[in-house]
Amino acid sequence: MKKIALGEQGLVVPVVGLGCMGMSEFYGKHNQKDNLTVLDRAVELGCTFWDSADMYGPFTNEELLGKALVGQRDKITLATKFGITRGKQGEWLGVNGHPDYVKASCEASLKRLNTDYIDIYYQHRIDPNVPIEDTVGAMGDLVKEGKVRYLGLSEADPEQIKRAHQVHPISALQTEYSLWSRDVEENILPTIRELGIGFVAYSPMGRGFLSGTINQRSDLQEGDWRLENPRFEQVAMQKNRVLLNTINNIAKNSEYTSAQISLAWLLSRGEDIGIIPGTKQIEYLEQNWLSQQVKLSKQELNSLNQLSDKHVIAGPRY
Ligand SMILES: NC(=O)c1ccc[n+]([C@@H]2O[C@H](COP(=O)([O-])OP(=O)(O)OC[C@H]3O[C@@H](n4cnc5c(N)ncnc54)[C@H](OP(=O)(O)O)[C@@H]3O)[C@@H](O)[C@H]2O)c1
Repeated sequence: MKKIALGEQGLVVPVVGLGCMGMSEFYGKHNQKDNLTVLDRAVELGCTFWDSADMYGPFTNEELLGKALVGQRDKITLATKFGITRGKQGEWLGVNGHPDYVKASCEASLKRLNTDYIDIYYQHRIDPNVPIEDTVGAMGDLVKEGKVRYLGLSEADPEQIKRAHQVHPISALQTEYSLWSRDVEENILPTIRELGIGFVAYSPMGRGFLSGTINQRSDLQEGDWRLENPRFEQVAMQKNRVLLNTINNIAKNSEYTSAQISLAWLLSRGEDIGIIPGTKQIEYLEQNWLSQQVKLSKQELNSLNQLSDKHVIAGPRY
């Protein structure tokens, strides 16, 4: 199992973690019993870098992890997030980076997670109405109080990352990165590398598309959030198949699945990049875990790189 350092503050995590979002919301049906079985299997494998957020569910994803953590908290590097506010019925209430809100959110997350510390606490989205210095100042207080070990940001721009890092060292930036979302390569990755901040790639499987198992809208269950995502409109899916055909062909000529090829490409992009593929299924979890062993040839890497360099992806990320 490969581990990587995220940032320069001493945080070391398995390079392949587990995104837990879909266990509670967004990607079709789910149930707690199966989720707990997947989480237990993850511990057995050593896939112990778990990613949650208070807004997943909302709130129920942290409660789920709280149950899974009983008796094994010390084995897990637990990441959660605050800042996208939602009501109990799931309604969206905007972003909030106010210092009082940061502290109240952390208390609520600790309770739901059934723990007295969070390993990585991320600001989920930057609040345009609160100076990032104020938000990160409050997050830094949580570190001093021992409630949080390391700080992270999600979807921040280079300027915001630099400002935040001056207030308190940031260990990880979590942002979307995959074969169909490479925009971080231009400005974000150079910024975090200059500052010594680690990178956690979310939606590394293109929300499932890059596994080659979602070929049309009818492959998604009713109510699946992706049916509202521009990249999962039928025309966009058809256009983006160019990318998929290449991944599928590489997989066909190897012992690996398309999902593993997509993740292995991402892992080839740097020793400082961790991935958190999300799944509710043991079979997928095991496959994703083994993606760290896939060796892509120079030729395969070239064709994947060139493809997404040249091919314009249809549909924005959100
Ligand atoms: N910071 C942010 O704003 C943000 C935003 C989005 C996500 N995230 C985090 O990132 C994590 C991962 O991202 P994600 O869940 O959005 O997308 P993802 O990991 O790119 O894709 C998840 C989807 O791929 C499917 N899948 C996973 N492994 C597979 C395999 N080996 N073969 C075939 N299909 C496979 C899953 O199916 P099943 O569900 O059927 O297993 C699920 O539908 C989330 O869980 C969350 O923790 C963060």
